[in-house]
Amino acid sequence: MSHLEGKVALVTGSSRGIGQAIARRLAEDGADVVVHGRNPKGPTAAGAEVFRDEVRGFGRKAEVFFADLTDKDAVGRLVGEVETAFGRLDVLVLNAARAPFKETTRLFERDLRMLVETNFMAPVFCVQKALPLLEVAGGDIVFISSLGSRFMNPQYPLGPMKAAMESMTRQWAEELGPQGIRANAVCAGLVKTDAYKTLRRLWPGLEQLPEELFVTPEEVAGVVSFLTRPDASAIRGQTIVADRGLSNRILRGP
Ligand SMILES: NC(=O)c1ccc[n+]([C@@H]2O[C@H](COP(=O)([O-])OP(=O)(O)OC[C@H]3O[C@@H](n4cnc5c(N)ncnc54)[C@H](OP(=O)(O)O)[C@@H]3O)[C@@H](O)[C@H]2O)c1
Repeated sequence: MSHLEGKVALVTGSSRGIGQAIARRLAEDGADVVVHGRNPKGPTAAGAEVFRDEVRGFGRKAEVFFADLTDKDAVGRLVGEVETAFGRLDVLVLNAARAPFKETTRLFERDLRMLVETNFMAPVFCVQKALPLLEVAGGDIVFISSLGSRFMNPQYPLGPMKAAMESMTRQWAEELGPQGIRANAVCAGLVKTDAYKTLRRLWPGLEQLPEELFVTPEEVAGVVSFLTRPDASAIRGQTIVADRGLSNRILRGP
């Protein structure tokens, strides 16, 4: 059961939501865990520290580090902190995301920059900076995508970023495969996190969807866990859809 025993996982955006469930699952799988959030003075910082203590309670090593991943130098410092505290990095889960919810034609320049910097540039910075550690470990990269990568929602400009990152995941699998690094993605369906509170106001009919079509953070975490297993060694550059079949019934309506 403990396939990550002795290994170290960094889950970006694990101060809350899906990222926290992924970090918890990887700790249950045996990993020491780097809990990460954006802002040490933000509303979720205290929760990140509580979560770190929970992971320590499993007998795993855990630290919380904060970094705004849109800042390449901050990403470099984060990876430096991981190296100092843990000495290695085996699993990098690219989960952090932040986006405006409005039509692309209504995006201010600052919205567009936030969208691209947080959801495209930041994960690329993370891989660039973590590469020396991942190479030594022969590690895994798992990107967290969403159904917006393949289905249009007018108020969800994050979708095109997710599509680009699923493509980038294939790129990484090819570029980094020779260094022993696997890269895959999980495309999650609808998950009731903080982001969902905004989404439900903008998406007519969302609240009418049957409860069984909502994915839990733990289900997303389970797929991430699988992708880090030796059993998944043949899966490279792929995006696994974990949506409880929501996308299969796209023409049926709620
Ligand atoms: N919720 C859904 O229905 C759903 C569905 C499919 C896929 N996903 C994907 O799953 C992932 C997690 O979603 P979620 O709903 O759990 O998100 P969430 O609750 O909004 O949490 C976002 C996380 O990302 C961090 N973050 C945001 N911008 C950052 C930045 N510039 N630098 C560093 N960290 C940053 C946040 O840190 P702070 O706490 O410090 O702000 C937080 O930890 C995202 O990639 C999302 O697109 C979500």
